[in-house]
Amino acid sequence: MCGIIGYSGHRPAVPLIVEGLRRLEYRGYDSAGVGFVQAGELSVIRAPGKLGELEKKLARQNVFQATAGIGHTRWATHGVPNEANAHPHRDNSGKIALIHNGIIENYLELKKELAAKGYTFSSQTDTEVLANLISEGLKEKGDLTKALSWALSRADGAWAIAVIHQDMPGVIHAARRSSPLVMGIGTGENFVASDIPAFLPYTREVVFLDDGDLVRIDADSWEVFDAATLAPREKKVQHIAWDVQSAQKGGHKHFMIKEIFEQPKVIADCLVGRVDHEANLVDLPEIEALGVPERLHIVACGTSFHAGLWGMYLLEKWAKIPVQVEIASEFRYRGPILDKKGVVLAISQSGETADTLAGIRLAKEQGLPVIGLCNVVGSSVARESDYVMYTQAGPEISVASTKAMCSQLTSMLLLALYWGRRSGALDQDTAARCVRELAMLPQLLEKELPGMREQAQRLSRLHAEATSFLYLGRDACYPLALEGALKLKEISYIHAEGYAAGEMKHGPIALIDPKFPTFAMALDDELFPKVKSNLVEVQARGGTIIALVNPGLDAGVDHSWVLPKAFGPLNSFLALPALQLFAYEMADYLGKDVDQPRNLAKSVTVE
Ligand code: F6R
Repeated sequence: MCGIIGYSGHRPAVPLIVEGLRRLEYRGYDSAGVGFVQAGELSVIRAPGKLGELEKKLARQNVFQATAGIGHTRWATHGVPNEANAHPHRDNSGKIALIHNGIIENYLELKKELAAKGYTFSSQTDTEVLANLISEGLKEKGDLTKALSWALSRADGAWAIAVIHQDMPGVIHAARRSSPLVMGIGTGENFVASDIPAFLPYTREVVFLDDGDLVRIDADSWEVFDAATLAPREKKVQHIAWDVQSAQKGGHKHFMIKEIFEQPKVIADCLVGRVDHEANLVDLPEIEALGVPERLHIVACGTSFHAGLWGMYLLEKWAKIPVQVEIASEFRYRGPILDKKGVVLAISQSGETADTLAGIRLAKEQGLPVIGLCNVVGSSVARESDYVMYTQAGPEISVASTKAMCSQLTSMLLLALYWGRRSGALDQDTAARCVRELAMLPQLLEKELPGMREQAQRLSRLHAEATSFLYLGRDACYPLALEGALKLKEISYIHAEGYAAGEMKHGPIALIDPKFPTFAMALDDELFPKVKSNLVEVQARGGTIIALVNPGLDAGVDHSWVLPKAFGPLNSFLALPALQLFAYEMADYLGKDVDQPRNLAKSVTVE
């Protein structure tokens, strides 16, 4: 996930673009850059780090003459966040500059083809390949609009791009496929951007672009074409009433709810480049050299620990790898005796959690290879691990982690499929079915989320007086119970405990009374009868119960929350957002500071 902006008008473009990037920083902030034509020459200025680093560089130069240009703030999904990988990227002629949000999946193939024609590359990015492909198209077609159309017809993947050319100083071309892009229509100025906040101080007139659109803007005009045929496309200009803050949240009240609703895309993005949907195969080139571990030690904190625990159930069942999951702050001090043939998997959204990093160092001291599963490219976990698998979830702004866990579960599922098939422990039919259903999961979740939110709203209102909650689940639903309880307590400040349903009668059942509700997961699997009998025990003590169930199942509880039935482990991807939404709606109803709960920090870089 990155932020892009293009401007053509009558104001100094570079300061305006940088200001727009500041409002897009929530989309990415590990490097930034601008491109513009000034005194007949194309300039590209880039800097790794936060936007402030780019501003320092720009402050040392005269950048006030250009009235058109492009800018990019990056959230790396591939290639470390350094200056060479920052956008814009230029073609070999130095006349074209391109910014890009997305992934060109066949870039290696295209790179080879271009290299054979003499093109050279100075970065590891797919974007530089596309810049040169456009350049090649320009040689053939002699016109930038046609060149862009041709280049995009050769590319596979997802993009929102903006392109400038030294010989066309006021013109910006842009295009989208599967990555967001909107156009802002002003008076004597026009904009393209990943998101509306980028240009909201200048115009509220917006054109939402669709997949397959190709756009040409200058200060006084804008045109939209079909990227493939270049036939003109009709577009409606819409007036936006949002303020900048709510626009950054995509019209949502909080980042947390926005991120919960991003989960269908998070699943799809995590699969990019890793799943061959035609052959129903999972490929994880980033850990190929490691082989299948004989034993796995998972080390993590908080929500990431819950994701690890969830992974344990699946990895043992499907890949037949013995797994131990540990809270990093315990692991680092208890003097663990690690199996030398084992592998450590460190899970961290931020990649900066102090205890998880200490766990990595301890594992390395004992000579074990470490896989870092993290979201932030180039983070400490990524740098210190021997192998890195990125969750590709985009920046998570809300302190309470939601979409990151979804991406971690997706990654654990991919690991189970990959190792399970490589060792032969998992049969081809199960793997193929899972891959097939996984591809359809984002669509299913997208459809279900609005109704789930309504249900969460209704149930949270009914239980808003509760001061304690018990969350119960068995098997893979046990880590989800822990996560549901964590979400509720951290944002609504209601005490909650997650328990393995079968363990409840060994103590916590003493707490149950009519004022102590239980939130259970009673999904349609082989353990349903066991969970049901645990719930009968709760009811016998007068406790009220909300239960996540599947169609046709009667858990006999006060509030059955019916989720569609999915294939095996995929059911967790529906249960998880239900838990998140319940916590969110409760906290919002109680008027809590949802995105920044008291006493918590997004990344815990100290002990
Ligand atoms: C809970 C939450 C925390 C983090 C934990 C680990 O919503 O966000 O429990 O999961 O601090 O953080 P990472 O994954 O960045 O190592």
